[in-house]
Amino acid sequence: MKTKITDMFGIEHPIIQGGMHFVGFAEMAAAVSNAGGLGIITGLTQGTPEKLAAEIARCRAMTDKPFGVNLTFLPSLTPPDYPGLIKSIIDGGVKIVETAGNNPQKYLPALKEAGIKVIHKCTSVRHSLKAEAIGCDAVSVDGFECGGHPGEDDVPNFILLPRAAEELKIPFVASGGMADGRSLVAALALGAEGMNMGTRFMATKEAPIHDNVKQALVAASELDTRLVMRPLRNTERVLTNAGVERLLEKEKELGASLKFEDIIGEVAGIYPKVMKDGEMDAGAWSCGMVAGLIHDVPTVKELIDRIMSEADALIQKRLPQMAAA
Ligand SMILES: Cc1cc2nc3c(=O)[nH]c(=O)nc-3n(C[C@H](O)[C@H](O)[C@H](O)COP(=O)(O)O)c2cc1C
Repeated sequence: MKTKITDMFGIEHPIIQGGMHFVGFAEMAAAVSNAGGLGIITGLTQGTPEKLAAEIARCRAMTDKPFGVNLTFLPSLTPPDYPGLIKSIIDGGVKIVETAGNNPQKYLPALKEAGIKVIHKCTSVRHSLKAEAIGCDAVSVDGFECGGHPGEDDVPNFILLPRAAEELKIPFVASGGMADGRSLVAALALGAEGMNMGTRFMATKEAPIHDNVKQALVAASELDTRLVMRPLRNTERVLTNAGVERLLEKEKELGASLKFEDIIGEVAGIYPKVMKDGEMDAGAWSCGMVAGLIHDVPTVKELIDRIMSEADALIQKRLPQMAAA
């Protein structure tokens, strides 16, 4: 399939694997890129420029296809060494960066000078327009369904994507709730040039995470996510578990007086416990409502090939039959 996104990133299929903390290691990114999508290494999971440089080199040894690096800009008292991480990306010859979180404007000149394409993840039309205005090449429009941080506007993709299409000049991909060929065709119909998936890629053979997580995703329904940290205006969609229910109790008890320190035990340092050790009740980890559409653990190539053949059948058979009738 050829779209503005496949052209921009030099990939075969318009499918991107979004950055995922403690999931987006070289194995994940390489598997997606080798299957014709765009794999993305999560920069902040590596933490230091040296470790990121090593992870980029590891990924390059596993694939000769394009892959990207995610840089998430978070408000922090002790921010990561973003200039150092960017230097590792540039020196490692990576040509695609997915930015997320705060406005990436400060770092765009260095990335653009190195010939890097930047796709910024946004949860609203106004942030997407801002990304376009500051010179991002594309945006990933992340609806309320998404795993991770959906923002505070709560607009689902059936509204958000066509709204983005009405306003944006740069191409965008649909993110949040994407799982299969139906998602891809719907995303294209709503104006997107492809799709970005997070949660669905976790339930694959190559995802470098504990099998407990994959089985939890297969077992989960679309009713099993919760929104946490809403009172802090840092909303995150996570899979429910004992730690999350504890966190929500604290949020209810403390109401408007809730501070980050009150819930630190349920949100800080959780990812390695869940993703490496398979401790499913440790606390909050991002997961999309799309868990309800995950019923198996295929290889990444099986997943991507299946998405593309389902999309093809919809476009070539189901829709023309309806149109012709
Ligand atoms: C476990 C997990 C960790 C994530 N970590 C990050 C991250 O560190 N940075 C980021 O920009 N997005 C992160 N995301 C969001 C994804 O990149 C993607 O936007 C989102 O998962 C799309 O929604 P979906 O899960 O419904 O496919 C994470 C998502 C998941 C499921």
